[in-house]
Amino acid sequence: MITGMAGLLLPLLVLALAWWGWGARRAQMGGALPPGPRPLPLLGNLLQLQSGRLDRALLELSRRWGSVFTVRPGPRPAVVLCGYAALRDALVLQADAFSGCGAMAVFERFTRGNGIVFSNGPRWRTLRNFALGALKEFGLGTRTIRSESWRRRLRYDPALLPPRPPSGTPFDPRRLLGNAVSNVICSVVFGKRYGYGDPEFLRLLDLFNDNFRIMSSRWGEIYNIFPYLLDWLPGPHHRIFRNFADLRVFISEQIQRHQQTRQPGEPRDFINCFLDQMDKEQQDPESHFQEETLVMTTHNLFFGDTETTSTTLRYGLLILLKYPEVAAKVQAELDAVVGRARAPRLEDRVRLPYTNAVLHEIQRFISVLPLGLPRALTRDAHLHSHFLPKGTFVIPLLVSAHRDPTQFKDPDCFNPTNFLDDKGEFQSNDAFMPFAPGRRMCLGASLARSEIFLFLTAILQRFCLLPVGNPANIDLTPHCTGLGNVPPAFRLRLVAR
Ligand code: HEM
Repeated sequence: MITGMAGLLLPLLVLALAWWGWGARRAQMGGALPPGPRPLPLLGNLLQLQSGRLDRALLELSRRWGSVFTVRPGPRPAVVLCGYAALRDALVLQADAFSGCGAMAVFERFTRGNGIVFSNGPRWRTLRNFALGALKEFGLGTRTIRSESWRRRLRYDPALLPPRPPSGTPFDPRRLLGNAVSNVICSVVFGKRYGYGDPEFLRLLDLFNDNFRIMSSRWGEIYNIFPYLLDWLPGPHHRIFRNFADLRVFISEQIQRHQQTRQPGEPRDFINCFLDQMDKEQQDPESHFQEETLVMTTHNLFFGDTETTSTTLRYGLLILLKYPEVAAKVQAELDAVVGRARAPRLEDRVRLPYTNAVLHEIQRFISVLPLGLPRALTRDAHLHSHFLPKGTFVIPLLVSAHRDPTQFKDPDCFNPTNFLDDKGEFQSNDAFMPFAPGRRMCLGASLARSEIFLFLTAILQRFCLLPVGNPANIDLTPHCTGLGNVPPAFRLRLVAR
């Protein structure tokens, strides 16, 4: 009985302290944050955000509170940037001030602020520049991907889906796409690809997928708000940390293997590059090149690529199943421009305006990371007549740029003409920001765009996509949302064209 009471009182005490801490912090900031919905004691605005679709709930709140407002999804206030103008004025026009990374408890416990994605200051700058340089070295720069290098290094194979899905038999594309995408980053980071049936690799992909799903669920959301409380309570969130631990073991083993077999000064992949740099800076006590940092950075590249890109591809297939007329138009364009005798290449992209528009529209429509990653102000800033003190936690609501009616027609509908001009030529739009704009822009953006183009065109060139059931019944609503927008599970049939 006493244990039960203690179990109840302890969480309440933690909540009360957290609330008190929030109050103190707010007082410290002089109550300066932009206005927003009135918070409840202990719970903040949690109840207003309870829809299970955090992105939608925040979009809804912005109707009342404008493009820059404060919410308290728990004890900690967060300033939300909503709509293209607010995101641009903050992340692009005040890029330095908004270049800090905001802590997310779910990652904090694993990364301890190490690696690229969750570090700040000199460590972040050093690691980001190093990773960009290394990716460029392997032909995967931010702006340009050397197509020839892509094919040579990554041995890009037009037979994209080995083992070939049995013609006409319904299958779930999740693992095949995850495996294909992940092999690209594996080839750069580990210098090797994995067999599609490799049980260890399939298990790792499942760990990534499981983590992305739990983090995008209510459990992930609540963990980020009340981590200390949830550490004590049972639930699927504990799996996140077990999965992280397994991933760490896998990456550490890879690093050990590299240490035993590498030729110093002759790097063949990212891990070798990093180990060379560790050698160079061995005597420097301030060096950012430590083994733990290598583990986290490798994890960043692996996780950054695998789940976001393969989820985009999977969602893209689901959309094309729902809109077969769009898939048919892409196929007609591919036939006319590329033919069927060879696989599409990156250079073809400029001559495929409709295809390019469809791929952009898929990314806009799904907003795979709807809330981006949180930022923290590196110094005081002013935004739309609001003062934001240094350290303010910021949610860049990327989905709000994609749903901004001043930038896209019928933003809630899938419509590739959003990226076409009157003459049918491809037309870019600055409000397209799935990779987030500004200093912390996704460093794999170019790689991801290339993967999406090459994989989807390779599938469409060779196969007709057939739904299982009536395409009119396909529901494009995300299965869960939070960190990511995850599509519902589905099966499809591929029939050779
Ligand atoms: C469709 C695929 C992808 C999407 C939608 C995506 C989106 C994003 C977004 C929104 C951010 C947060 C930027 C910010 O802090 O505001 C980010 C950061 C990052 N992404 Fe991606 N990403 C994708 C693919 C990739 C790939 C292929 C890689 C690996 C090479 C990657 C590696 C990273 C890294 C390392 C960061 C941290 C950048 C930093 O903090 O400086 N991402 N990504």
